Amino acid sequence: MQNQYDIPAMGFGTYDRKGEAGIAAMLVALETGYRHLDTAQDYGTEKEVGQAVRRSGVNRADIFVTTKIKTGNLGPGALVPSLRQSLDNLQLDRLDLTLIHWPSPNNAVPLPVYIEQLAEAHALGLTRLIGVSNFTIAMLEEAQAILGDLPIANNQFELNPLLQNKKLANYCVSKKISVTCYLPIARGILGDVPVIAEIAARHGATPEQVALAFEFAKGYIAIPTSSQADRIRSNYLATKLVLSEADIAAIETVDRGQRVIDPAWGPDWD
Ligand SMILES: NC(=O)c1ccc[n+]([C@@H]2O[C@H](COP(=O)([O-])OP(=O)(O)OC[C@H]3O[C@@H](n4cnc5c(N)ncnc54)[C@H](OP(=O)(O)O)[C@@H]3O)[C@@H](O)[C@H]2O)c1
Repeated sequence: MQNQYDIPAMGFGTYDRKGEAGIAAMLVALETGYRHLDTAQDYGTEKEVGQAVRRSGVNRADIFVTTKIKTGNLGPGALVPSLRQSLDNLQLDRLDLTLIHWPSPNNAVPLPVYIEQLAEAHALGLTRLIGVSNFTIAMLEEAQAILGDLPIANNQFELNPLLQNKKLANYCVSKKISVTCYLPIARGILGDVPVIAEIAARHGATPEQVALAFEFAKGYIAIPTSSQADRIRSNYLATKLVLSEADIAAIETVDRGQRVIDPAWGPDWD
């Protein structure tokens, strides 16, 4: 499952996947068939991602690697050197996708300052695609006006059946900005939602597979993570699960706007 930017819809999140245990989890993911690893300067997992890519034996060109620029690296002249450091950590020549992890808290660094540096990183060939994370519609519009013809390929934000973020997601789809769902399985609590538990039981699937299949049916990318090999494998099977129109309509009713990642300095969702 790919989209217009050739981003594999099933990705593996690497937050907290540190050290040898983290590399082992990424290797299980790559052996299972995941071809997309999501890291960030702030996660401290870029070296582990690079190690996993090399040790896996999978061709580099077949693995999609995303990193994110941390807020401390948004200031004038800071972004490009920080991305070179990320490439050094990863031991890669180029990222597939580089995101602004969060808009600058309290607008301490004006948006044009870091969006222009992101375009510069792209022009230098340090990343195939550029995008953002945790951006609102107004921020996306401001950024795209600065970038001109260079597309914002992706917006990564919290999205799962309990927080469907429909206004923002629909805007992104209408502008051909691919959507990546973080917390796509709501950290494993979806079995407590009767509608999802019923659909899962009927399909002989897990609640997490149902959530991921719902996101894929919407055309989104999802980046679940787990420290456990059996869960890494089981989550991947969501790529084979086909939900009916009625299942999808039922899941749409469980949206509670239940946001988990909500720092005081982050923007409010549309
Ligand atoms: N851009 C951003 O600002 C941002 C913010 C947050 C996250 N992210 C990205 O999104 C990725 C995913 O987010 P996340 O890790 O917070 O949430 P998540 O993927 O929704 O949930 C992961 C949690 O669920 C558990 N889990 C995994 N598979 C399960 C299963 N089949 N059944 C029950 N529990 C299961 C895992 O525990 P075990 O390890 O015990 O299995 C882990 O604690 C991160 O790794 C990161 O790459 C991005």
